[in-house]
Amino acid sequence: MPLMIGVPREIFPGEKRVATVPEVVGKLIKLGFGVSVESGAGAGANFDDEAYRAAGARIAADAAQLWSGADLVFKVRAPDAAELALMKPGTTLVSFIWPAQNPDLMQQLAGRKVTVLAMDALPRTLSRAQKMDALTSMASISGYRAIIEAANAFGRFFNGQVTAAGKIPPAKVFVAGAGVAGLSAVGTAASLGAIVRANDTRAEVADQVVSLGGEFVKVDYEEEGSGGGGYARVMSEGFQQAQLQMYAQQAREVDIIVTTALIPGKPAPRLITADMVRSMRPGSVIVDMAGEQGGNCELTVPGESVVRHGVTIIGYTDLPSRLAKQASTLYATNLLRLTEDLCKTRDGNIDVNFDDEAIRGLTVIKAGAVTWPPPPPKPPAVPPPPKPAAAPAQVAKKPAHGPGEPMSGGALATVFGVGALLFALVGLYAPASFLAHFTVFVLACFIGYMVIWNVKPSLHTPLMSVTNAISSIIAVGALIQVAPPLGGLVQGRPSGWILGLAFAALALTAINMFGGFAVTQRMLAMFRK
Ligand code: NAI
Repeated sequence: MPLMIGVPREIFPGEKRVATVPEVVGKLIKLGFGVSVESGAGAGANFDDEAYRAAGARIAADAAQLWSGADLVFKVRAPDAAELALMKPGTTLVSFIWPAQNPDLMQQLAGRKVTVLAMDALPRTLSRAQKMDALTSMASISGYRAIIEAANAFGRFFNGQVTAAGKIPPAKVFVAGAGVAGLSAVGTAASLGAIVRANDTRAEVADQVVSLGGEFVKVDYEEEGSGGGGYARVMSEGFQQAQLQMYAQQAREVDIIVTTALIPGKPAPRLITADMVRSMRPGSVIVDMAGEQGGNCELTVPGESVVRHGVTIIGYTDLPSRLAKQASTLYATNLLRLTEDLCKTRDGNIDVNFDDEAIRGLTVIKAGAVTWPPPPPKPPAVPPPPKPAAAPAQVAKKPAHGPGEPMSGGALATVFGVGALLFALVGLYAPASFLAHFTVFVLACFIGYMVIWNVKPSLHTPLMSVTNAISSIIAVGALIQVAPPLGGLVQGRPSGWILGLAFAALALTAINMFGGFAVTQRMLAMFRK
């Protein structure tokens, strides 16, 4: 018997998102489910009942009707007391829950004998789970919206402009915390033309900041901030002092600060002090995205926009809901991907399979039993120990040396000895003109060997590229043709077609030369940290 998916209207004050959108309804029906949507559920996100009905959903008149007919309920916000009362035993609820922060809610849900999948409990570093990572979807929207809110409150352009009325400098934006939301803010601000800087305690994000058009500002203190699972940890006292100094300097220099710094299970780190706010230019803006966890800025009022010392401090805690249509669409898609994993048989039934690491992580209550926190992830499979070495006679001999490894002293002496002997023999019998060319050839081989042999194999591609660029030395031949008096090497003026060919050769070699060196530089830059 196929299950009925129910999507209630969100009743949390101000929440405009909805857990499924008409576009996704059809796909859920294709998986074999029935879909029922509470009347008005999509209104805040610009989806009316008619759109859901057209996609194949039934419309439930009210919450009571919806909950009583649903086997699988999709929600955005954790259920409140009124919704808990409507839950029938055996229902599966998929929603944001935040089990660590809501122990009472967990107990009440368990008491209703339901199964609960918490979208915030997904093991995020599992690459297979990325398609259902609603935290990432929402954080990326929040980062974007934070910049839009900042732009709205800021009295100037983001990009620099030169107009007849004068020169306008670009806005300077500093982003504290370059996780998903922070990187989204960096990219959005950079695309609007601002000068963007960002900082994070996890050094690994520096390259990502740069790739999105920002500059990574380091704290002058050596300490790594990764705390496992891609998240940060609380830093030492020394680091925090050094970080505050750097942030104080940024506050004096920039126009807009967006803070996104969070540490799982801990209050948000306090990064922007009241003194820093005071040091900012009047008209500056701070968007504090950590308001719900206590705020990164000392003066933030969670959920509100306030002006302190001439600086607008925005502490909205509903940034994804302010982009309700986009947020609902992404969330609905994350839920669809989860449903596909729950219903591999495509027959409208689900299997909460604990052998699946993603589903195990998400499931915080199974049939009334609390299953959160999940067991620690399995360590990666250890490769079998190497077999003991075979008898010495069978051991394959390692070549004397390979590219990138220096030759041993003995081998070098032998090569030189044999080479010198050959050279002496050739010198004794060959004509003088051959000997001159041969000497140049031998020297070229020697220099080539010295230069190339010690290059690490990983750098062979840039090496090929640079040698290709060097081969543009043939430009000399073309130059001589184009300018015959050059050194008197060519007598008389060459004919027209030779000149034409020489010009073509010059043009092509120039591309080869400059292009070759430029490409080599770019390749080498990829190897530099
Ligand atoms: P988050 O919301 O917990 O924290 C935001 C950022 O604040 C983090 O980058 C953190 O390092 C930074 N932060 C914490 N304390 C700070 C301080 N004192 N000063 C400056 N910055 C501070 O993290 P979010 O954005 O939810 O995800 C963090 C990371 O999780 C991602 O960057 C990624 O590495 C990992 N992740 C991995 C995924 C995957 O592999 N599929 C998916 C999503 C996230």
